[in-house]
Amino acid sequence: MPERVLSNKDMESIVDTTDEWITRRSGIKERRISSTRRDESTTDMATKASLDALKMAGISAEKLDMMVIGTVTPDRQFPSAACMVQKELGAGNAFAFDVSAGCAGFLYALAMVNNAVKCGMCQTALVVGVERLSSVVNWHDRSTAVLLADGAGAVVIQAKPEKGGILSTHLKSDGTAWDLLYASYGNSFTPDILQGLDQKPFFLKMEGNKIFKRAIRCLSEVSREALEHNSLESEDIALVVPHQANIRIIQGLASNLEIPMERVFTNIHKYGNTSSATIPIALNEANREGRLKKGSHVLIVSFGAGLTWAAAILTWTM
Ligand code: ACO
Repeated sequence: MPERVLSNKDMESIVDTTDEWITRRSGIKERRISSTRRDESTTDMATKASLDALKMAGISAEKLDMMVIGTVTPDRQFPSAACMVQKELGAGNAFAFDVSAGCAGFLYALAMVNNAVKCGMCQTALVVGVERLSSVVNWHDRSTAVLLADGAGAVVIQAKPEKGGILSTHLKSDGTAWDLLYASYGNSFTPDILQGLDQKPFFLKMEGNKIFKRAIRCLSEVSREALEHNSLESEDIALVVPHQANIRIIQGLASNLEIPMERVFTNIHKYGNTSSATIPIALNEANREGRLKKGSHVLIVSFGAGLTWAAAILTWTM
């Protein structure tokens, strides 16, 4: 996570908002905002998370044969964040690419890697979720500026003969609703020379209310699909690690699945919505807190821009 903490009190001096509103409507108390002066670019954050994951897995970067990064905020339009991180890690034996799937980016990336492992295309892979949303947020728009933040998380996936690990992945998209949440930058605006300098190239727009209702419905449906696919019931899930967009969305999902909040991991109060990064950050914290027990089933589920949404069920094997 970036070092700099921006509290709700700090947000009060940036936009017309209150700590009370943000806490009540989203569950967020503070978030982390990166600075390139502190080596906290997308590439920097992803590299640090990857090094931590490789260390925990006891694997050297040369062992990696595949690297996929879920992100909508790479440092450059091209090359991919994955290629830039590959250089930093010295992971010369991997092929590397990014996946752009909004907040579902990590789950989409995980699914690509899982299937590549299953068909024998790779043995040892790195999956990263990283975002630097502070660089695309409109800091005058209180409805999004208070929610979105920066961070990175990474996992190592290995082919193993024994059962367990990633049981199944379930990916969904609905491009007909892309305009409920989008950012404009890169090549989607008219060059300055043709229009003057008054138009800002960076902005992010979200119809939060419409997304809110769809998020709860889609997260619940894809979770049920994942459970049914594996002949599991809600009570078989030891821990749900959901995308951290809004505590009320998470509570709605838990209620629909009839899973008590004690079996749902949340850290949104500390980090806000870091899009593709929320799930690997949460998995890491849950793991280090001892909440992921060997042999237990974990449901991970996300929803975001695209629209995209996805779920996976894991059997924790460590
Ligand atoms: N402070 C104070 N008031 C605010 C703020 C703020 N920061 N933001 C909005 N308001 C006001 C609005 O202007 C509105 O005022 P009005 O009634 O006078 O018009 C009022 O609060 C209610 O606004 P709503 O949008 O209806 O509030 P809601 O309860 O829906 O909460 C929120 C808004 C938090 C955005 C919620 O809708 C949400 O979480 N939506 C889903 C977000 C999400 O999951 N996005 C997808 C993933 S993000 C990604 O992919 C990058």
